[in-house]
Amino acid sequence: MPAKSRIQNPKSKIGILLSGRGSNFLALHAAIEHGEVPAEIAVVISNLADAPGLAKARELGLRAEAIPHRGEPGRRAHEEKVLAALRGAGVEWICLAGYMRLLSPEFVAAWPRRILNIHPSLLPAFPGLDAQGQALAHGVKVSGCTVHLVDDGLDSGPIVAQKTVPVLDGDTPKTLSSRILEQEHRAYPEALRRLLAEPWEVVGRRLVFRPE
Ligand code: GRF
Repeated sequence: MPAKSRIQNPKSKIGILLSGRGSNFLALHAAIEHGEVPAEIAVVISNLADAPGLAKARELGLRAEAIPHRGEPGRRAHEEKVLAALRGAGVEWICLAGYMRLLSPEFVAAWPRRILNIHPSLLPAFPGLDAQGQALAHGVKVSGCTVHLVDDGLDSGPIVAQKTVPVLDGDTPKTLSSRILEQEHRAYPEALRRLLAEPWEVVGRRLVFRPE
């Protein structure tokens, strides 16, 4: 049976998980502020207390929580704390935005088909770390970014949106990353907006938007 979406409440509550600079979080926040995405950011959580993205969330007046993984007895203990914070904030959708922790199947099952991730390659090519370096090393001429639902695998869930960029002969990991990042900042808000505003379903591996 395909899983059908429900049109969400006028403003869906989003939880952001991040570990770093948070530029994708800021792109989502800007799109929400401009009324392009029917959502509100209910909480921003980081496993690293000094993540720049967390500081930016605080500057923006958002609820922001550091939940360090270090010092926890294991992945599940840390995840239980994150889940409790997300539940406490009434989160309906989770957007991973440079969150450098793998999620356990139990975590994913707690928000079935309601966790999104953005990855800096055209999946299924180059999953995992340093996707831009992998793309350069492989010699592809086109790369890009992918927004996908999170499942139990590594960068493997149903694809919501992709955007492409050329790979130029003179590219370094840095120049390619920044060209891809520009597209990430467009792709993530667009994908979230469509998921919240349009009917969709997952058929096999395919996420398809359906006219009403
Ligand atoms: C992005 O390249 C994203 O695709 C990947 O991690 C990076 C996060 O960057 N998952 P930022 O923290 O959003 O600037």
